[in-house]
Amino acid sequence: MISKTMEEALNNQIRLEAYASQYYLAMASWCDKEGLEGAAEFLHFQSVEEKEHMMKIFHYLSEVDGFAVTPAIPQPPLEFDSVQEVFRLVYDHERKVTQSINDLVAICYKENDYNTLNFLQWYVEEQREEENQARTILDRIKLIGNGGQSLYFIDKEMKKFLAAAQAKEAADAADPGA
Ligand code: FEO
Repeated sequence: MISKTMEEALNNQIRLEAYASQYYLAMASWCDKEGLEGAAEFLHFQSVEEKEHMMKIFHYLSEVDGFAVTPAIPQPPLEFDSVQEVFRLVYDHERKVTQSINDLVAICYKENDYNTLNFLQWYVEEQREEENQARTILDRIKLIGNGGQSLYFIDKEMKKFLAAAQAKEAADAADPGA
């Protein structure tokens, strides 16, 4: 059994994760249109990850006799100024998600809901990693700069970030408790 407050807060998180999935998908499509194949692939992968974050909460709510609300998703932006802007927006969104997870943890303590607190530990760790990844990408893009060939090098870097994210996912799947 879960409290109504907690159920509502988790449904808000479902909405945020669902929006992140659509947001990153829109970014992937824009990168693809701009010929940034590596960045597009990375963002496609992230979009699927966000959908999985959403689904984990869906299943958790069902397990604790709550009701998971399928969210309406606002239209994400379709156009971006630059690849730098795309990853600045990813970083901003990840920070927003981290804040939201922290707020959920605070509600758990307030309500003595240790089941949900335990469930959220995975998200606390995941957010630390995702925020760090977004910041590292942004720093790398800044370092490469805006020179003539920078888009080529940025896109090459994105393929490396994708490979690292895929390797992490495979390791997590092999050892979910790690
Ligand atoms: Fe599920 Fe990247 O926040």
